[in-house]
Amino acid sequence: MNSEKTPDALKGKADKKVFIKTYGCQMNVYDSDRMNDALTTDGYIPTDTPEDADLVILNTCHIREKAAEKVYSELGRIRKIKDSRANAGKKTMVSVAGCVAQAEGAEISKRAPVVDLVVGPQSYHRLPELLGKAAGGEKVVETEFDIQEKFKHLATPSKEAVRKRGVTAFLTVQEGCDKFCTFCVVPYTRGAEVSRSVDQIVGEAQRLAAAGVREVTLLGQNVNGWHGQGSDGREWGLGELLFKLAEVDGIDRLRYTTSHPRDMDDALIAAHRDLDILMPYLHLPVQSGSDAILKAMNRKHTRDDYFRLIDRIREVRSDIALSGDFIVGFPGETDKDFRDTMDLIEKVTYGSAFSFKYSPRPGTPGATLENQVDEDVKSERLAELQALLASQQAAFNHSLTGQKINVLFEKGGRQQGQLSGRSPWLQPVHVEAPSELYGEFAEVEILAATANSLQGKLIQN
Ligand code: SAH
Ligand code: SF4
Ligand code: F3S
Repeated sequence: MNSEKTPDALKGKADKKVFIKTYGCQMNVYDSDRMNDALTTDGYIPTDTPEDADLVILNTCHIREKAAEKVYSELGRIRKIKDSRANAGKKTMVSVAGCVAQAEGAEISKRAPVVDLVVGPQSYHRLPELLGKAAGGEKVVETEFDIQEKFKHLATPSKEAVRKRGVTAFLTVQEGCDKFCTFCVVPYTRGAEVSRSVDQIVGEAQRLAAAGVREVTLLGQNVNGWHGQGSDGREWGLGELLFKLAEVDGIDRLRYTTSHPRDMDDALIAAHRDLDILMPYLHLPVQSGSDAILKAMNRKHTRDDYFRLIDRIREVRSDIALSGDFIVGFPGETDKDFRDTMDLIEKVTYGSAFSFKYSPRPGTPGATLENQVDEDVKSERLAELQALLASQQAAFNHSLTGQKINVLFEKGGRQQGQLSGRSPWLQPVHVEAPSELYGEFAEVEILAATANSLQGKLIQN
């Protein structure tokens, strides 16, 4: 309605609002926070409602076809919001960021003219400048690769912003991937591996701790391939970095994700042996249990290599819970190959896992292979595999009933009077507890377990 128009004179003065929707992996969550931080300095405040937003950013994922297609249906919704805001005299800028932006570039604004700015994962530090350009009416596409520049200009959140986000935080230590698994788009959407330096990482961990963060999860597409410049000028590996981070005052729990079996070196295994604050949980994707498929996937390890590795890790940390990623129906996967994967899962026993039907991705070697597997076969295999993984997860959760475990309370619980936290093994734990325990650790006796979570009571001391 015309009468509801904001007078022009007031416009620039009122705070602008930004709505960011995040898809995909934890690194996108981290990046979305950094975009919010960078935009705060540019006069934006975050909002949860796109209808209120002067700027809408979709931080997208290209890993499987379904993930990428979601973006276009969301853009349809955003177009309606943009139109109705325009009727009320309000301007809305729309940006697509993330891995779809990198992979599809200018195609996006051709297919969805509502989009003003396409920005790849390594250009977020230039957002204010790029938005300025797009505000002039130009369709802007920026998909340069320069991770060093991104790292150099990472926006630092205020203490208040960190507090709002809670007592656990992600910290990117490495971005990009040189592994080129034949199914995967990540080496194309995130570029070559680049590691941040020890000083950059420790500095960020100290700032997080000063704002009340108690648990830090180090992130990288290939996090255990991290090899950054140490404080002594030498190149360090992830194991050494974890020992250094364990000295940061206020940080009481460390985790890292996602690892590649090829990069689990002795120093990292030693960190699992010697560091109490390194949580006994390891996400170590294997993808398949068949040597033929592992080879076709270019994983560069065999199933036996994986078994040996798991044995070495369990030898030093017997309570470690393993997690993994699995793909069923990679081109050429026979029933025998699939049985080998089921057999590997039986032998390893996972505490939790993620599993997917193979999705051919444009530009990856896997997509052009003949002998693609039928969708029906993929669905059957996935159902069988997920049933096995779910039963292992439930058994693991149930094995904790009656035990006393340490919980970090991260948020309000489902019911009043409850808090919800995480176990060392990353399970959500729901407990009746006073709100003062938010952000604190407590000993909890586990009373019951479900497929996905635990329930317990506080142990009074
Ligand atoms: N950096 C992580 C993987 C990121 S992608 C790693 O190296 O493990 C997360 C998971 O998505 C992968 O482990 C894989 O299981 C799955 N995935 C990747 N590409 C896929 C595809 N084309 N189809 C189905 N699943 C895929
Ligand atoms: Fe993708 Fe393989 Fe790199 Fe993981 S290691 S990001 S699955 S190419
Ligand atoms: Fe998706 Fe890109 Fe992460 S493709 S999984 S958002 S690295």
